[in-house]
Amino acid sequence: MSTGWTPQRPFLLLLVLCFICLFISYKADITYPDFERRAQSHDSIPSNSTELLNKTHSVVLVWMWPFGFKFELNCDIFNFTRCHLTDNRELYHKAHGVVFHHRDIHGSLENMPKGPRPVFQKWVWSNMESPTNSGKITGLNKLFNLTCNYRRDSSIPVPYGYLYPVTSAEESFKLPAKDKLVCWIVSHWSPNMKRVQYYNELKKHVTIHAYGRAFQKPIGDEDFVKIISACKFYLSFENSFHRDYITEKFFNPLTWGSVPVVMGPPRHTYEGHAPAESFIHVDDFPSPKELAERLLYLDQNHTEYMRFFNWRSTFKVKGALFGREIACKTCRYLQNHKEYQAFNDLNTWYWG
Ligand SMILES: *[C@@H]1O[C@H](CO)[C@@H](O)[C@H](O)[C@H]1NC(C)=O
Ligand SMILES: *[C@@H]1O[C@H](CO)[C@@H](O)[C@H](O)[C@H]1NC(C)=O
Ligand SMILES: *[C@@H]1O[C@H](CO)[C@@H](O)[C@H](O)[C@H]1NC(C)=O
Ligand SMILES: *[C@@H]1O[C@H](CO)[C@@H](O)[C@H](O)[C@H]1NC(C)=O
Ligand SMILES: *[C@@H]1O[C@H](CO)[C@@H](O)[C@H](O)[C@H]1NC(C)=O
Repeated sequence: MSTGWTPQRPFLLLLVLCFICLFISYKADITYPDFERRAQSHDSIPSNSTELLNKTHSVVLVWMWPFGFKFELNCDIFNFTRCHLTDNRELYHKAHGVVFHHRDIHGSLENMPKGPRPVFQKWVWSNMESPTNSGKITGLNKLFNLTCNYRRDSSIPVPYGYLYPVTSAEESFKLPAKDKLVCWIVSHWSPNMKRVQYYNELKKHVTIHAYGRAFQKPIGDEDFVKIISACKFYLSFENSFHRDYITEKFFNPLTWGSVPVVMGPPRHTYEGHAPAESFIHVDDFPSPKELAERLLYLDQNHTEYMRFFNWRSTFKVKGALFGREIACKTCRYLQNHKEYQAFNDLNTWYWG
């Protein structure tokens, strides 16, 4: 046997290789036990393992985080059950709904799913910006099944805020201390904007405390609340005028104990969100001068000013939670609407 070759040699080599393989897979298991990872992630972060999907749940895939902001992928705060929210694109073929955020499509269909759409799946177009502030994107017109927007005629309406009943256990409203009559915090400024022209007239007749980037007085979150609370009236002037476009500019003063003076859609649209006597609409007056006179009068008559707060014994205000609210309301909507639905003219509906 001078060649040194024995029939056992390759066998031994195989055996050694097998041991090495076994050892590696054993080590890998110790370092990354798959079942443990799944168990840990199951409650909060949806797992990658599709067999863990509960068949009674509606699966909503958040294709992109709105403005890049992440949110918790569950609907506990809304008390919606049987919702499985995920951002895992590998669950695309299992998702009952896929939510897209207009701004984050970044004008390119390249950022949309590539694979064919499962027959049961609905695509949801979400957008909280007004048509003036959103670019139309070629190719989106006939792509979606549902819309999710501040517009009340959306499939899944999500307003910027809403009133909800006070429960007896909650503390009653106390008017914050006031040291200013009229305030405005504004960043987007241009001389031809309607709100800028109105402001320029109004300030001739009443002192307006103006802040924000437009006045080289940027305001942090904390000061924001302080300023609004300390003013009797707050100018809730929208930057553009569109059907149902009422933003946080209206809900912020309601939340922090000021009276909104609104410029936006007609009064009746606002009355769909809050009592008629909770705000002042610029259209209630023939000109900025008459509005100023009314504000100065209300500054003198506390009884009459306090009438703007009567509703607070029965209602409180909540701002929208956008991303999470969009995903959760989509889930609930899908649970109640299993029928075929297509939205075939996004462009005309939104941009007119
Ligand atoms: C899910 O799988 C993808 C691709 O394999 C991976 O990038 C991602 O990190 C995984 N997510 C979790 C929560 O394990
Ligand atoms: C699926 O969800 C339902 C309702 O929440 C629950 O009763 C059921 O036990 C869940 N099934 C599994 C396999 O987790
Ligand atoms: C959630 O709903 C259940 C069943 O309707 C109810 O018992 C519970 O009080 C609700 N919880 C919250 C936080 O609203
Ligand atoms: C203040 O308003 C109340 C209610 O409208 C009215 O009865 C009262 O006369 C007013 N007071 C003054 C000083 O204008
Ligand atoms: C969703 O809309 C698309 C495009 O109009 C359509 O092809 C698809 O059948 C619709 N799906 C459902 C489940 O309604």
